[in-house]
Amino acid sequence: MDKLVIEGGNRLSGVVRVSGAKNSCLPILAATLLSEDESAIRNVPCVRDMNTMVKILKTLGADVEQDGSEIKVRPGRYKRHRAPYELVSTMRASICVLGPLIAKKRRAEVSFPGGCVIGPRPIDLHLKGLEAMGVDIKVEKGYIVADAKKMRGGNIYLGGHFGSSVLATANIMMAATMADGQTVIENAACEPETVDLANFLIKMGAKIRGQTTHRIIIEGVKKLHGAEHSVIPDRIEAGTHMVAAAITKGDITLKDARPDHMAAVIDKLEEAGLDIKLAPGALRVKYARSLKPIDVTTLPYPGFPTDMQAQIMSLMTVTNGISIVTEKIYPERFMHISELSRMGARILLEGSSAIVKGVKSLSGAPVMASDLRASAALLLAGLVAKGRTDVHRIYHLDRGYEKIEKKFSKLGAKIRREKEE
Ligand code: EPU
Repeated sequence: MDKLVIEGGNRLSGVVRVSGAKNSCLPILAATLLSEDESAIRNVPCVRDMNTMVKILKTLGADVEQDGSEIKVRPGRYKRHRAPYELVSTMRASICVLGPLIAKKRRAEVSFPGGCVIGPRPIDLHLKGLEAMGVDIKVEKGYIVADAKKMRGGNIYLGGHFGSSVLATANIMMAATMADGQTVIENAACEPETVDLANFLIKMGAKIRGQTTHRIIIEGVKKLHGAEHSVIPDRIEAGTHMVAAAITKGDITLKDARPDHMAAVIDKLEEAGLDIKLAPGALRVKYARSLKPIDVTTLPYPGFPTDMQAQIMSLMTVTNGISIVTEKIYPERFMHISELSRMGARILLEGSSAIVKGVKSLSGAPVMASDLRASAALLLAGLVAKGRTDVHRIYHLDRGYEKIEKKFSKLGAKIRREKEE
């Protein structure tokens, strides 16, 4: 297993290219299963979750070829419909093969993904949506077993306790592309990744409208064909670099960033005092004056993304004054607090809000990454901490960030990957 070793205190500056969005790419790769033809997906980030999705596609019988950032999938008449526990347990997003399998094969067996370190992650909305379309669902030996002789469209309300669901919307939208008649998803997610998936499905011949709103309408078609698609840039990777510019008092230009997908993050960082300049296909983020504390509440898009919550908290730990983070998507997503505290951060957790009192400096320490975004937060804290920080268990980071230490070293960070002893 690897760890990252960071010597803090260097200002980051320069240009970095934003990779393709992991959370777009995963459901898009799953969607290729809706056709027998070849699909070519470009701008695929080279991260571990993508390898897991490729393994799942191959397990189902698809032929997959990867060449750098392009993945070609040739599902043909793949025979299998079982996504096994060994793969699903390593990546919750595997659940997004459920919709395509049931649409195309009328049967799916997908291991129940269970909870994870960021808190309980139920799938009731996925199942409710499929049942409303006439799919028979059972849970057997830890697997969701879904059968559908016929699938019909319908009006499906997909709101849960915490608002819309990104992957439930993806699953129902994919299933509905080949159902009989019209499906209307109410309280649908409209994250840029959901829109990207809808755009790919439309290229495959699906009839979808309203994908940028909370009401998506899908007219079922008999057959979909293969398509080519380049996935959108990763707004969370871009946001993580923006925080890196802020925390190291740096100046970073993000090539290929999509500011139109990042309004909430841009707004909060500007409120903190960062100088942010938008240009077509790029974003320049520059530290210009001492930063102010901010209050952030995570919400479904276009609100502030939960996937940026941990990273922004790292910035708050060294921003003079009191900042507050309220988590409204995953009320228990605070595993990073104990590790940031080991570095000298002062954070008080009150229910689903964290009250952060900025300190003058953090001090480097050995810390343990618990999930993907928490790992990014620890890395950011390490960039500004005094002395050496060892971030252990970085396989979490490798799940979702492409060449992260290379990108940060190019910007001037002292960071290296080492094998754990
Ligand atoms: N929820 C339910 N029932 C469901 C599904 C979700 O109650 O059936 C709840 C969840 O527990 C949560 C809220 O609804 O409280 C939103 O969860 P959502 O379903 O939108 O999450 P997801 O689709 O499983 C995706 C991303 C996550 C990201 C969330 C929220 C992918 C592969 N994953 O997960 O990304 O945090 O949307 O934006 O797209 C990450 O990249 O680090 C990550 C965790």
